[in-house]
Amino acid sequence: MPRLPDHVSYITGAASGLGLATAKRFAQEGATIIGADLQRADGWDEVEGLSPQSSFHILDVREEEPQREAIAEAVAKHGKINSVVTAAGVAGGGFVHMLDLAEWQRVIDINLTGTMLSVKVCLPSMIEQRAGSIITIASVEGLEGCEGGSCYNASKGGVVILTKNLACDYGRAGIRANAICPGFIDTPMFQSAIMGGMGEERAEPIKFQHKLGRWGQPEEIAGAALFLASEDSSFVSGVALPVDGGYTAGHQYGSMAELMGFE
Ligand SMILES: NC(=O)c1ccc[n+]([C@@H]2O[C@H](COP(=O)([O-])OP(=O)(O)OC[C@H]3O[C@@H](n4cnc5c(N)ncnc54)[C@H](O)[C@@H]3O)[C@@H](O)[C@H]2O)c1
Repeated sequence: MPRLPDHVSYITGAASGLGLATAKRFAQEGATIIGADLQRADGWDEVEGLSPQSSFHILDVREEEPQREAIAEAVAKHGKINSVVTAAGVAGGGFVHMLDLAEWQRVIDINLTGTMLSVKVCLPSMIEQRAGSIITIASVEGLEGCEGGSCYNASKGGVVILTKNLACDYGRAGIRANAICPGFIDTPMFQSAIMGGMGEERAEPIKFQHKLGRWGQPEEIAGAALFLASEDSSFVSGVALPVDGGYTAGHQYGSMAELMGFE
């Protein structure tokens, strides 16, 4: 039985990585997808299970009006928005003494302000319905610091606390809000920022911090988003959920696993 019957979901960043994987999974589970991104996803029309009522909008999440129009069109057609998944985002950062203000602004504008705007345009319909699930994509880097994180980590920390505030403000209207905090997931962003930026060998200590000893897959984030969008999570709100293979579980020093014969 599909887990998202009669469900309309606005998914940003739907052309790539976590947004695309979530759109595919939600479509397979019966949802109508209102996708949005700067560019159209390759093969969007061939997404398995994608209903003909689904639509894709080329827009920038930093802008409110095009998002308002996309949601107004969806509400006129389908009567409601059940969930929003804010997966549009960019990597960025650097040591603060070398950081251009323009880079700080770019990352905050897309990752934090963009998230707020994508949620904002969905709220009127959710309030009217007295129901809705807001799912933001933050990061483990929104929960703790790391070398060179600066504006990226600040933007994702902002997404976490914005999400908790949304849970406080709209719970009485029947709306839940939760942040997913992914560890390092193998997407085009990961390939360019981590594998391209630092190379596989220098990225090894980052992989090591994932206690399961591997990078994550986009489908593993889509699965968590599905849980948060579905009735299975009906009493879950205000949570920053790490989906990180144990990255944030604690410190691992590397001495015991070998001793225990685990590797
Ligand atoms: N991949 C990871 O390891 C990882 C870990 C933690 C959090 N995240 C977060 O998950 C989200 C998705 O990342 P991903 O790895 O799938 O990256 P990705 O680059 O594969 O996909 C991001 C998508 O967002 C779109 N986008 C960027 N700026 C936009 C804008 N202004 N308006 C509309 N769309 C825009 C891009 O075009 C792209 O299609 C991001 O917010 C990212 O920070 C990723």
